[in-house]
Amino acid sequence: MRHLLLAVAGAVVAACTPANGPLMRPGDDCLRCHGGLQADAGALPVTEGLPVKRATPWSFAGTVYPTVDAGADSGIEGVSVQVTDAAGSTFQVRSNLAGNFYSAERVAFPLRVCVSRNGAVQCMLGPAPHGDCNLCHALPPAAGALGRIAPVAQIQICPPGIQPTYSSLDQSFFKVSCTACHSGALAASSGGLDLSGDAFSALVDVTAQNSQAQPGSAPAGLLRVKSGDPGASLLYQKLLIGPTPSPEFGEGMPLNSPGSVCKETRDAVQQWIASGAPRN
Ligand code: HEC
Ligand code: HEC
Ligand code: HEC
Repeated sequence: MRHLLLAVAGAVVAACTPANGPLMRPGDDCLRCHGGLQADAGALPVTEGLPVKRATPWSFAGTVYPTVDAGADSGIEGVSVQVTDAAGSTFQVRSNLAGNFYSAERVAFPLRVCVSRNGAVQCMLGPAPHGDCNLCHALPPAAGALGRIAPVAQIQICPPGIQPTYSSLDQSFFKVSCTACHSGALAASSGGLDLSGDAFSALVDVTAQNSQAQPGSAPAGLLRVKSGDPGASLLYQKLLIGPTPSPEFGEGMPLNSPGSVCKETRDAVQQWIASGAPRN
């Protein structure tokens, strides 16, 4: 009975929904047809046999799902998709009833992308070279993506028993949550910050690169950690930033899930710096 009711409801929705409109073809690569604006796209594959009719040009578009392996018709509504383009402009759209999202704003590629739902943020680590999200986020996935775009519930970075001391922060926080990027050869492209060895001498009283700040808005002479002054320490500021980069301090850390460091951990960093950032 339940199945029959659902089938009837489905038929009614299908009958009232225009075939070509906001709820169309969830999961499909939208820019195959809606790609007019896409200067940087290069050669997008064209599906054999489908009439590729030019439609309203979107700069980026796709579909959001509850899991990376969900069926095409199970998209979810109300997920915020946040895009920061190569010029530093930020755009935000919401997924509709079919899970679809799309934008006609002019954007400069590549894009930095985050999706969020109920405060949980998930970002693409690498840059998106073009705006046809579902081309890579498909089943089977392409170009190294895990599958569909899915804002899975995020783990908060909240090491138990964290203390406002250098040794506690180093062992339970920096060495656990930051060294995937801040170590060895990768450190050079991560603000020049290597936290894998003696993190203290890489942080305290060291001038910050702050390379992602908008020109003119970065405080002069900014330090990674300024003893006694958390507000003037880039390390602390980076932990307060969510999915939207700050003009003064750039992107939040950790870069793959900005805003995920819990208050207890942030407070421990804040108190350690406020107490003079000792090597304790
Ligand atoms: C096979 C080609 C094709 C694909 C793939 C396709 N569309 Fe469309 N779409 C069209 C055509 C044709 C129209 C009608 C012409 C128009 O209004 O742009 C249309 C119309 C629309 C409209 C209404 C147009 C407007 O200006 O309001 C929206 C919104 C839309 N599509 C979103 C999407 C999304 C999101 C995707 C991907 C999940 C997608 N489409 C995939 C061909 C396509
Ligand atoms: C050229 C292929 C490609 C395009 C286009 C692309 N992505 Fe991705 N995306 C990836 C790959 C590969 C990963 C996994 C590695 C990473 O995070 O960089 C990923 C990861 C993600 C993640 C993190 C969760 C996960 O599945 O690992 C999100 C969220 C995401 N992409 C959203 C988007 C959105 C939204 C767009 C469109 C604006 C987009 N992507 C366009 C390839 C792509
Ligand atoms: C996925 C990779 C990645 C992870 C994980 C990551 N970072 Fe970063 N980090 C970067 C990149 C790339 C930069 C350079 C761009 C910028 O400044 O935003 C950076 C820059 C920084 C800077 C600024 C350094 C300077 O001198 O300008 C600080 C401070 C920082 N990260 C702290 C952290 C902390 C603390 C963690 C762990 C909670 C962390 N990061 C995790 C990639 C990462």
